[in-house]
Amino acid sequence: MFPMTRMRRLRRNKTMRRMVRETELNVSDFVQPLFVRPGTGIRKPIVSMPGQSQFSVDTLVEECKALEGLGIPAVILFGIPKIKDALGSQAYADDAIVCQAVEAIKKACPELCVITDVCMCEYTDHGHCGAIEPNRDGNPDVNNDKTLELLVKEALAHAQAGADMVAPSDMMDGRIGEIRLALDEAEMSDVPIMAYSAKFSSAFYGPFRDAAESPPSFGDRRSYQMDPANLNEAMREIELDIEEGADIVMVKPALPYLDVIRWCADNFDLPIAAYNVSGEYAMIKAAGANGWMDEKKAAMESLLSIKRAGAKMILTYWAKDAAKWLGEG
Ligand code: PBG
Repeated sequence: MFPMTRMRRLRRNKTMRRMVRETELNVSDFVQPLFVRPGTGIRKPIVSMPGQSQFSVDTLVEECKALEGLGIPAVILFGIPKIKDALGSQAYADDAIVCQAVEAIKKACPELCVITDVCMCEYTDHGHCGAIEPNRDGNPDVNNDKTLELLVKEALAHAQAGADMVAPSDMMDGRIGEIRLALDEAEMSDVPIMAYSAKFSSAFYGPFRDAAESPPSFGDRRSYQMDPANLNEAMREIELDIEEGADIVMVKPALPYLDVIRWCADNFDLPIAAYNVSGEYAMIKAAGANGWMDEKKAAMESLLSIKRAGAKMILTYWAKDAAKWLGEG
């Protein structure tokens, strides 16, 4: 009914806009992904992800102290082992790099929530997320049930080292239930599982594979990660993970899948996480560096939109910058 209704009335000034704002980002929304490799004194920049680095355990601890100082509640760790083999043994070895990192961080920052990514692809020499066997067609493929055994060992190793939460990102069927059972049997029933439930087979993981040095040496991940075309299937994945005992479910990537996040938020009342992945980061970084876009504004708009879509937690490479930006008002 024009002109009785004028939507612009409440947009007139800063204060009024602040009063009617429906969604607000907070530093406690963020989880910073971090990469750890063997050695000391290392801060090796990741070329495809400007501003991000691979750390050794000592520099990682420094970084965690800085993140904690900014009010960031959590980090998620990815390991880059010294050696890779067919079964990713360095994922669950006693001295696994992620376990060393967890112990050191928990000692220095006991209040920081340390989450670990549980997957095989960083540790296998073929770069796939599990154990390779010939499938029914005789072609090499990731064997689901053999992989479950490896994932369970990895999750237990991380939890035993003191991880506050484990986050399986492999997309094998049944892994949440198996890991839950194993944690409970090992008297770690209080360790929550954040399930990468709706993880799509995405081109947006490109820069990460540089960061984790884990591109698949043959084929791709489509036999285990989801087809970007499917929402119904995402619902089933999420339902199954909840039935199997997931405490938090994740949608990944975030920006191209805001509809999946929204669907999830409308249908479930457990916390929903979204992963603002490496490609979402790298493209805005690249545009920013070229002067085509304002990085800070584009990043904050992205994070706000992910939250508006229904995510309670956002895994993002901007966590540190966003915390500073929020602090600046
Ligand atoms: C491991 C894993 C990946 C990411 C998180 N965990 C890579 C992949 O599945 O290919 C991607 C994160 C990102 O792109 O930022 N499976």
